[in-house]
Amino acid sequence: MNVDERIPAQARRDGPLGYDQVVEIALYDGELGFYETGGAAGRGGDFLTSPEVGPLFGAVLARALDSCWRELSEPSSFTVVEAGAGRGVLAKAVLAAEPTCAPALRYVAVERSGALRALHPDGVESADVLPAEPFVGVILANELLDNVPFGLLERRENGWAEVRVDEHVKEMLVPVADVAESRLTPDAPVGGRIPIQRAAHAWVETALGLVLRGRVIVIDYADTTPSLVRRPWAEWVRTYRAHGRGTHPLADLGDQDITCEVAVDQLPAATSNRSQAEFLRAHGIDELADEARREWEERAHIGGLQALKSRSRVHEAAALTDRVGLGAFRALEWVIPPAAQGV
Ligand SMILES: C[S@@+](CC[C@H](N)C(=O)[O-])C[C@H]1O[C@@H](n2cnc3c(N)ncnc32)[C@H](O)[C@@H]1O
Repeated sequence: MNVDERIPAQARRDGPLGYDQVVEIALYDGELGFYETGGAAGRGGDFLTSPEVGPLFGAVLARALDSCWRELSEPSSFTVVEAGAGRGVLAKAVLAAEPTCAPALRYVAVERSGALRALHPDGVESADVLPAEPFVGVILANELLDNVPFGLLERRENGWAEVRVDEHVKEMLVPVADVAESRLTPDAPVGGRIPIQRAAHAWVETALGLVLRGRVIVIDYADTTPSLVRRPWAEWVRTYRAHGRGTHPLADLGDQDITCEVAVDQLPAATSNRSQAEFLRAHGIDELADEARREWEERAHIGGLQALKSRSRVHEAAALTDRVGLGAFRALEWVIPPAAQGV
């Protein structure tokens, strides 16, 4: 059976499925899901994320982790849990940057997909779920929440309906009485859609419960529910395949990534919400880029690997802070306990 057959079979058995159930099977089915069968971020993969642009993102994140470690008065045991770690490229770059906290650091890469966990680098602990015991440190997630299964609601003349998927893998609208998410956007236009991101909310709640002292840092493309309802839904539910945009989310199930912009107003309220560009600047990306530019200028005439690395770093900085690209992503931070530290 493939994903195309599994979804109709489940809909025949259980009745029309929510979008969240469809995404769960299409992306994460243990045998057939997109992420179990070769789907991944990366230059050779299906989409490019900040860690995959190059090692600079990890070098700046290493500084951000050091700053959190210092705020916590340099504890001798400092745990960093990276959730949705993919094949571990960010973990590798953070460790390669040799953060000052390294002697205290336990780095745990959490990834659902067994196929991707198998690629995790040496020096990190690899796990399929978040740790069971609370710890002092940071939970970090880059482009995780957009990949967490979400439901869909559509505004009709006479109220809201949930978008479900029938046994022919076609959408159908099922009227719903009172859904908490719809109250976020009381003046929605007829035909407008919004995501239901309870699983993303629950993930943040769990993460907040696991950090005794420290931070949860989430970086992703994001918007708000009242804004999403006014945009075409095909703009914020996106599919990716082989570095291009994919097809309709219900087509090519299991063969393409399905993602949803994160509605930040559906998550627990964050201590801070700024753009990725602002977050990276606060942690020194401009200094690292200036240093690399100087090195490149000094060595350009000699050439060699170091000169090329420096040149690449300058380009990476531009891509990571691009106002209409990765730089516009949102960096959300929850400080624990609240108001204990400055952001
Ligand atoms: C878009 S990729 C991002 C990978 C990496 N963080 C990056 O930025 O390149 C999202 C990853 O999160 C993983 N994932 C989704 N839900 C997860 C969960 N609840 N726990 C751990 N990993 C999860 C997926 O399998 C996928 O590898």
